[in-house]
Amino acid sequence: MIRIDIATLFPDMCESVLSASIVGRGREAGFIEIECHDIRRYTDNKHNRVDDKPYGGGTGMVMQAQPIYDCICDIRNKTDENAKIIYMSPQGKTLTQSKVKELSALDNLIILCGHYEGVDQRVLDELQVEEISVGDYVLTGGELPALTLVDAIARMQEGVLPNSDAYSIESHYNGMLEHPQYSRPEEWRGRRVPEVLLTGHHENILKWQEEASFEVTKRKRPELLFDSFDGNKPYARFVRVQGGKPDKNGRKPELLTLMGYLARKRILTNREQKQWKRAEIWFRENLPDPFCADCPKNAVIYFKTEKAQDILRMYSALLDMVIAHEIPYEVVFADYIGEMLWENEIMAGFETKDKTLSDVEN
Ligand SMILES: C[S@@+](CC[C@H](N)C(=O)[O-])C[C@H]1O[C@@H](n2cnc3c(N)ncnc32)[C@H](O)[C@@H]1O
Repeated sequence: MIRIDIATLFPDMCESVLSASIVGRGREAGFIEIECHDIRRYTDNKHNRVDDKPYGGGTGMVMQAQPIYDCICDIRNKTDENAKIIYMSPQGKTLTQSKVKELSALDNLIILCGHYEGVDQRVLDELQVEEISVGDYVLTGGELPALTLVDAIARMQEGVLPNSDAYSIESHYNGMLEHPQYSRPEEWRGRRVPEVLLTGHHENILKWQEEASFEVTKRKRPELLFDSFDGNKPYARFVRVQGGKPDKNGRKPELLTLMGYLARKRILTNREQKQWKRAEIWFRENLPDPFCADCPKNAVIYFKTEKAQDILRMYSALLDMVIAHEIPYEVVFADYIGEMLWENEIMAGFETKDKTLSDVEN
């Protein structure tokens, strides 16, 4: 059983979430031990201050080293002198299910929540914390990220869920997304539950679930499948470049800039230039994209390469360009656009369908 200690300025906020629902019941039943510690209790000044102005100026306050250090040393003294310390931080590696799996196997874990502008760097260095982020955006404090991490760890502890199937047949556990789920009634607003699920034929159901899981992953998060591709096979992929605000004429100036860079192939090596010659660039108005109906003038780039492994290099070259030129765009794999373009025959005469993602995989 794991014991998790959370060092925070807002223990009540954490406690209220951790005493509810599945995690709360798991704690009560003794399947997981969680304690929240108030960093403010460890201050050595009479006003109980935990923060001060940043050296060098700037807005906001910084959490000071001393109370954090004393709080965490106290936790370590009471639990395990070598307990691992995680600092929830937007600068850390993004949390993944495999990281959750790794942390779930520990006996002790300490989680530090920052607030305000963050934490004095020296205490992070002194305690040799590992930083974990919940995503590339910034929240006001580390409590919600810590609760996310604790929840993910808690559900993997024996006894918290009814059995290990409850977490092992779930999205991300094996690198895939889970198949769709259905419950009663069999038909709702004309939509029927897939027949195979009603047959009671266990083997067929399992097969359907596996196939559906693959289909869902391919459609929603194709990059998750990338590792399992044969890098030497031909490969095709659609990438959507989205975001940015249209100007008063409905144009997106930065996107034009990006397309300009792409067209001139400025920052690519010779080898990449050759590859990019084969990458068709689509730049369409009113793209038929159900997920981005309100963003006209996105770009769709169609990569086609002799070897799957080259796609990844092209993709990172594109990302590098977006970052290097500070173009406020998001780049996402979006093979469903390709499927849609084929279906609507927009791609007719452009390429044959035999090189789409699904065909390459099958
Ligand atoms: C406003 S943030 C500080 C951000 C910091 N100044 C920076 O730019 O990297 C305050 C605290 O919220 C937490 N936090 C904010 N965003 C987070 C994220 N995406 N993942 C994990 N923790 C986060 C961290 O504990 C952080 O110390």
